[in-house]
Amino acid sequence: MTTRLCAQDEVHEGQAIECPDPRDPEGASLIVLRSGGRVHAFLNICPHAGRPLNWAPGRFLYSLGQLVCAAHGASFRPEDGYCIGGPCRGESLKAVAIREVDGAVCLWRARPSPNTRRARARQSLRAQARTVQIFLRLIHATFADLPLHRVYSPLTTHYSPLFKTPN
Ligand code: FES
Repeated sequence: MTTRLCAQDEVHEGQAIECPDPRDPEGASLIVLRSGGRVHAFLNICPHAGRPLNWAPGRFLYSLGQLVCAAHGASFRPEDGYCIGGPCRGESLKAVAIREVDGAVCLWRARPSPNTRRARARQSLRAQARTVQIFLRLIHATFADLPLHRVYSPLTTHYSPLFKTPN
């Protein structure tokens, strides 16, 4: 499962570009850069103060081969987003999985394995069962004091001759 971010040839060695994050409806962006011939992508959120790293739309600072945050100067290794200097030294940019497919850089979302899908289905069934259980307990708690014919009368008087509302 892939979503196109940009063309491969838009990302030059030692440079970063900004791409909108297709997963974020609020317009967050991604940093896409090329280092050592490989393309990498990170969330455009600095671990120091949560600000974007660019100094202008689509414009990033590079110094001595490191990506530099324009806000307070933290330096990040482009190959893994690790901060080697500045106020968030030792922290990292959040990497985003990408693939290069047919001349494009694409966001990569791994397809869940069959086991994961089965586990999710089981989880969903358990959640539904819990909801039904809570609903039944609520009904029981609400109507526990009422005589049976009053609780079921709207249905049973119509569908079953066994339960008749007393006159
Ligand atoms: S927000 Fe990036 S260094 Fe402060």
